[in-house]
Amino acid sequence: MKHPPQIATTVFGDNLTAAVRFTELLAAVGVERGLIGPREVDRLWDRHILNSAVIASALPEGARVVDLGSGAGLPGVPLIIARPDLEVTLLEPMARRVAWLTEVVDTLSLSASVVRGRAEEPAIKRQLAGADVVIARAVAPLARLWAWSAPLLREGGRLVALKGESADEEVERDGSAVARAGGSQPVVEQRGADLLAVPTTIVVVTRLEPKRPERHDRGRNPRRAGKHAQRP
Ligand SMILES: C[S@@+](CC[C@H](N)C(=O)[O-])C[C@H]1O[C@@H](n2cnc3c(N)ncnc32)[C@H](O)[C@@H]1O
Repeated sequence: MKHPPQIATTVFGDNLTAAVRFTELLAAVGVERGLIGPREVDRLWDRHILNSAVIASALPEGARVVDLGSGAGLPGVPLIIARPDLEVTLLEPMARRVAWLTEVVDTLSLSASVVRGRAEEPAIKRQLAGADVVIARAVAPLARLWAWSAPLLREGGRLVALKGESADEEVERDGSAVARAGGSQPVVEQRGADLLAVPTTIVVVTRLEPKRPERHDRGRNPRRAGKHAQRP
């Protein structure tokens, strides 16, 4: 495994040791348990750890964040190491991955919660609703990801999806489905351009307030107007 690049100090500051420890765990136990491919070991810092952590600049101070489909802990674990002010929940349905995430959180003494389940399950929606931000990497196409994320977000909350090269294509393809499901027009942004050779591309969608009927439409609602609506 490579040493942390110089830039890791800028990204993780005083918490660099925890980032190094997480990278070592991924390279050893993570590979052994099939959570990450052996060919990823030499590119863990660039393609996984730093690439995840730089989305920190897209998240407000103290935000309540759900990492939907956290898997090996990406992007949620590097993010909480870089930004301990965030309240992060790592959501993952697979028992083996949940066990790994729980071990990581305990070993590194991170203030993150691990929840087992699927985003679309009613119990998970009840438990995690009201989040400020949902983050996700390599989980589902944008339209489906938005359908899973929206019920977890408060109004005005945001999905920050790490999408790489497919970002523009996904926005073009899924933008109207996202809008029909209560999302804003998705916006493609780059993060870490000043730090990384290949910056992280994210797609951001905001949960909009549900549309209310306009005043002049109200009279047309048969339940509100006309003789059927009048009390005797
Ligand atoms: C390809 S992995 C990516 C893992 C991690 N985000 C990463 O970038 O390395 C996709 C993960 O999403 C999880 N997942 C799939 N469907 C999900 C759902 N409906 N709700 C929550 N997690 C889900 C899977 O169990 C898996 O761990």
